[in-house]
Amino acid sequence: MTQFTHTTKSRERWSTQLGLILAMAANAVGLGNFLRFPVQCANHGGGAFLIPYFIAVILLGLPLMWIEWGIGRFGGKYGHGTTPGMFHYLWRHPIAKYIGAIGIAVPFLLVIYYNYIVSWTLAYSVFSFTGKYAGLTSFEGMSEFLAAYQGKVSNAHFPTIATAFLFFLLTHGIMMWVVSHGVTRGIERLVRIALPLIIVFGVILVVRVLFIGTPNPAHPENNIANGFGFLWNPNFSVLKDSKVWLAATGQVFFTLSVGVGAIQTYASYLKPKDDVVLSSIATCATNEFCEVILGASIAIPVTFAFFGLAQTRLIAAGGAFDLGFFAMPIIFQQMFLGQFFGAIWFFLLFLAGISSTVAMVQPVMAFLQEEFRMTRKSASWVVSVMVLFFSFPVIFFLKHGFLNELDFWVGTFGLVVFAIIEVLIFLWVFGERRAWKEINSGSEIHIPRVVIRIIKYVTLAYLVVLLVFWFAQDGISFLLMKNVPREDFPYVWFARFMMLAVSALMIFLVHLAWQRKRRIRQRMPD
Ligand code: TRP
Repeated sequence: MTQFTHTTKSRERWSTQLGLILAMAANAVGLGNFLRFPVQCANHGGGAFLIPYFIAVILLGLPLMWIEWGIGRFGGKYGHGTTPGMFHYLWRHPIAKYIGAIGIAVPFLLVIYYNYIVSWTLAYSVFSFTGKYAGLTSFEGMSEFLAAYQGKVSNAHFPTIATAFLFFLLTHGIMMWVVSHGVTRGIERLVRIALPLIIVFGVILVVRVLFIGTPNPAHPENNIANGFGFLWNPNFSVLKDSKVWLAATGQVFFTLSVGVGAIQTYASYLKPKDDVVLSSIATCATNEFCEVILGASIAIPVTFAFFGLAQTRLIAAGGAFDLGFFAMPIIFQQMFLGQFFGAIWFFLLFLAGISSTVAMVQPVMAFLQEEFRMTRKSASWVVSVMVLFFSFPVIFFLKHGFLNELDFWVGTFGLVVFAIIEVLIFLWVFGERRAWKEINSGSEIHIPRVVIRIIKYVTLAYLVVLLVFWFAQDGISFLLMKNVPREDFPYVWFARFMMLAVSALMIFLVHLAWQRKRRIRQRMPD
């Protein structure tokens, strides 16, 4: 097969090795680290959760990082920043590019709900600072505050969804503004500020939490030491439960941003001889620091100190939003300088979130720029309108379970499916030996061949088992809408239709792009 004409324009590159690692780490560090992880850990055996968690980091997370960085840098050499082009060169089969469309559809579907949540954190940072929720010291009070903000109910604080909508537009605008400035002048600039700030704010909050002591002297058992004990005391009996293993693995996928297509796009901006092996390890390590050290040491321990054992259990069982948006604001109100610490907490979440959402829109940006030769400016406009358009149902149908449905199929199931496809294409089709060389090329330390072999078999088997279990345990009840009230069925169907429509749209765009290239090639054969 003849090769497509290479890009004449040279592609953008990360300006420094540090900028690259900051960008990759900021991509991975997100709401998952500070809200999702502590809740998962508290609900699934505390310290014992770390066993399946770190097994998944070693057997799935890091290997998938290497694979995705390898695929991404490989694609970059051919002028392709997204998986349709990458798979096309790895496999050279007409269907490969269409399979690669998943790597644009998944990040696109992720951003349309993730960014809405990020906009709540910006809003809450402002609310905290201005004292808008001051006086709401009960769980019911804060929960109604959020429900009204989201437009689920109407009250004196928020008669309509307008405030939420404005914060959403603002967040969307910031995200698009960053990507419209490109990889070095947009994303790299953002992360050079955002990631250090995330760490500084995180450390400030951890230190604050450590000095909380015993907030209520009437309940001496509710203290910060017991809060850490609650989170970390291992309950090994949970390891018999496949649910815990699924939760741990799902968390690893989500937090490391693998199985999406976003890492590949970032890695395509590497220079051909840039290191992949060590940089991936550095990225994982930074993410784990922000997750297991910072993320875990803030929300849950402090909730325990203020609410005690029974309530903290309930809050954790209620999920990440209960912890982040109900419990934390109540706690900050009882803390010295709470308005300030509350604003920092939510602003930290905002920074972590926005530096992840730019990574989610970058694939579709790169796709339009490279495969359709759009300028960055026009690509930004097209992407902006597309993302807005598909975000509306998420915003307005939130109370009907729209977001949940997307999060399960895209943010949980889809990641594993895409990871299996990548391993098959890179290690089985492209070939173990070539993949091994590709990953190691330019790297400071080399991965031994046997590690690649282990990934080829063990990681793949692990992924397949995971997918089967997942489908059996949660997939079927999701599919049959077991936990969805009857009146929400049409909305859930609509969510499914939208996921299929977006995937079909991406496949169609890939088709158009390749047709266009074929026409150009026929006109001027290379
Ligand atoms: N890792 C992010 C977090 O922890 C979420 C995420 C999942 C993500 N997939 C992604 C971010 C792809 C950017 C790109 O919150």
